[in-house]
Amino acid sequence: MDTSIAELFNLDGQVALVTGGAKGIGQGVAEILAAAGARIAVADTDIETAAATAKALNDQGRTALAVGADTSDEASVKNMVTAIMDEFQRIDILVNNAAIYPMARLAEMETALWDKVLGVNLRGPFLCTRLAAEQMIAGGRGGRIINISSINTARTYLGMAHYDASKGGLNAFTRASALEYAPHKITVNTLAPGAVKTPGSLRVRSNLAKEMGHDTTEPLDAAFAEKIPLGDWAQPVDIGQAVLLLTSRAAHYITGQLIYVDGGLMLMM
Ligand SMILES: NC(=O)c1ccc[n+]([C@@H]2O[C@H](COP(=O)([O-])OP(=O)(O)OC[C@H]3O[C@@H](n4cnc5c(N)ncnc54)[C@H](O)[C@@H]3O)[C@@H](O)[C@H]2O)c1
Repeated sequence: MDTSIAELFNLDGQVALVTGGAKGIGQGVAEILAAAGARIAVADTDIETAAATAKALNDQGRTALAVGADTSDEASVKNMVTAIMDEFQRIDILVNNAAIYPMARLAEMETALWDKVLGVNLRGPFLCTRLAAEQMIAGGRGGRIINISSINTARTYLGMAHYDASKGGLNAFTRASALEYAPHKITVNTLAPGAVKTPGSLRVRSNLAKEMGHDTTEPLDAAFAEKIPLGDWAQPVDIGQAVLLLTSRAAHYITGQLIYVDGGLMLMM
């Protein structure tokens, strides 16, 4: 072997686009990929937080650009890709992470809410994939696309039908796009996190805790941690490290796969 192990995980010179990169899992992904040497585009609807996340990376000596973007909107995705190409002239890695998960039971679910969730969680990855892959193909260096799905494609809980459908669709989309982009040496894989402490999951945990009569999420979080074979919730960087694995040269022959990053939760539920 003429490559060192460290070299396999070195992303120097590469550019990674992380959607929903301002906070939560996306921020953890941005941190890890930046630490591996990639220049990062932090794309988010929450431009203020995206700017703060990019600034924190730049202050650490990394290179990051904040881009305001709504991934469910085609014009916005086009503008986002243009802004990244203007700044960095290439895209090597796309992490389709942005998603929303507002809970609603089917009996009360407005069609507009269904469409919104499917728009962000499924149309978004489609738009970002098509436009980022175009740049990867033009660059001729291959590429890596990682779709952030969920254990919710195989398990569920009340109020998540729209979300589950979007993530199930995303898993299928991974397989189809892996096949179509393989001739261009672009790999496409899915990571399915289990339980991760993020601002998004905090909203869900707070609502559940309130329903159960708790003032804080602590009792709920602790009880849930006991169900996880590896003993605790994931932190966003744990998902970031799994993303690094799939973006590394070590993973160049892996495509179309779904990997659970759940501390073994799927073994138990
Ligand atoms: N937190 C968990 O336990 C968990 C578990 C399984 C899967 N996931 C998945 O991980 C990903 C990240 O989840 P999280 O918990 O970090 O969420 P989060 O709500 O904490 O962060 C999501 C980020 O995406 C941004 N965003 C939302 N809609 C957007 C849009 N249309 N365009 C661009 N940016 C947008 C938000 O502003 C936010 O910064 C999602 O795909 C989610 O489905 C999370």
